Amino acid sequence: MKKFLAVFLALIFALQLGTSSVAAFDAPRLEREEWDELYGSLCDGNELPMLCVGANESEVSLVWHSAKETATPKVRLAKSAAMANAVVFEGKTTEAENDYQLVCRVTITGLTENTTYYYQWNTGNGWSEPCKYETKSFGSHKAMVIGDIQIGGQSEDSQIQSDVGYNWNNVLSEALTKNPDISYLVSPGDNTSTGKTADEWQTLLMPEALRSLPMALAIGNHDKKGMTYNYYTNMPNEYFGKYFEGLDRDFWFRYGDVLYLFFDATSSSAADHMAMAKEAVELNKDAKWRIGVMHQALFGPGYSGLDPETQILLNAVFTPIYDTFDLDLVLTGHSHLQGRSHFMTESMIVGKAESGKTYKNPNGIIYLNTNAVCDHGSFSGSFPFIAYEFSENDVTTYTTLEFEGDTMKIETRRGDNSVLLDSITIEKTEEQNDDMFLKKFQRFLYKVVEFLGLVYMKIDAIIVKIRGGHF
Ligand SMILES: [Fe+2]
Repeated sequence: MKKFLAVFLALIFALQLGTSSVAAFDAPRLEREEWDELYGSLCDGNELPMLCVGANESEVSLVWHSAKETATPKVRLAKSAAMANAVVFEGKTTEAENDYQLVCRVTITGLTENTTYYYQWNTGNGWSEPCKYETKSFGSHKAMVIGDIQIGGQSEDSQIQSDVGYNWNNVLSEALTKNPDISYLVSPGDNTSTGKTADEWQTLLMPEALRSLPMALAIGNHDKKGMTYNYYTNMPNEYFGKYFEGLDRDFWFRYGDVLYLFFDATSSSAADHMAMAKEAVELNKDAKWRIGVMHQALFGPGYSGLDPETQILLNAVFTPIYDTFDLDLVLTGHSHLQGRSHFMTESMIVGKAESGKTYKNPNGIIYLNTNAVCDHGSFSGSFPFIAYEFSENDVTTYTTLEFEGDTMKIETRRGDNSVLLDSITIEKTEEQNDDMFLKKFQRFLYKVVEFLGLVYMKIDAIIVKIRGGHF
């Protein structure tokens, strides 16, 4: 009996060791009353920080609003909650969108993999409570994608705003509890609904899990209705281009073997988008995977995205960039419909990409469209380029991208119970070839698109002015 007990206890101990390599996120699922209490206690404030991805895996950034008189852009980092031997990182302040606060931005550098850190930001009134941030492996790793968070009263109604926040918190809780090995979150945009009010960002940042989960957020058309994105984010390698105006900007970051290119698809400045992609790719020639992120669905499910601006203009601006630089995957949103394309090149299907299968060195790009946290689109049929679509659209989904060795596994799951909906694995053992004659020819032809994009941009600026804001 003693021997049996000893073996049993040893087994339990071994199992615990096996699972303790990845600590859980602090991401509690909340009952409605609990969320209402949290929302009520925080909704009048405007000082929650956002943890943002860094330029590479050894960095993360913070951004927060602080009272003008006392704002101190400092973060300190240690390996214990007692903050012993803490290292202080100093950043800078810039003007806020209001006249009583400043925006503090600080970047933490020199992080090492598989390490538990604690950080505090200066609230202007001393250090905040310590928050835990755990780095995972810098090589093989897992990312998460959730789109159209679109926090805000769709009709400027605080009840709707709270409802969206509640769903957001619980989808994060579900995804992070089932995937404690996630390193960062990518969103293809529409983070806010009106892009004009601080409380949208405050609500977006309420879930506790976000203190430990760096985010990379693209700009969507809803963000573009106002300017708040400019004051509440701190994205790496921002590219303000030659022709971009106002909020317009692209950015990129590198994590392990993956290069992410984030495009502001509400701007048709093809010359700027191409220049950003070229610069980022040239600086990261050794990245095995290239992933594009933009808001509007180029090859998403449903006919709802069938508007001329997306299908003609954005298609002409972006697909040549993606094809030229041999992207593997493009993440989009906007239609609030979850789905995924077959392998696409020059807007044509060049290979089937069936759910559950592995493809070795495929030609073409997968376009994956997220659905939404805020509300849900409705299906009305789909195009032949769609390989998978999720029609139960009242359920927010999340997608994980798992990079390991030569493979990228893309899995989409229900956000309420993590049941697997769609999965596809790409194995890549051959390198991209960027210098082919054809690609140089394509870049030459693209000059025409760059010119037309600028013309459209000027026309669009006049339309936006007359309309009093972005669509
Ligand atoms: Fe949108």
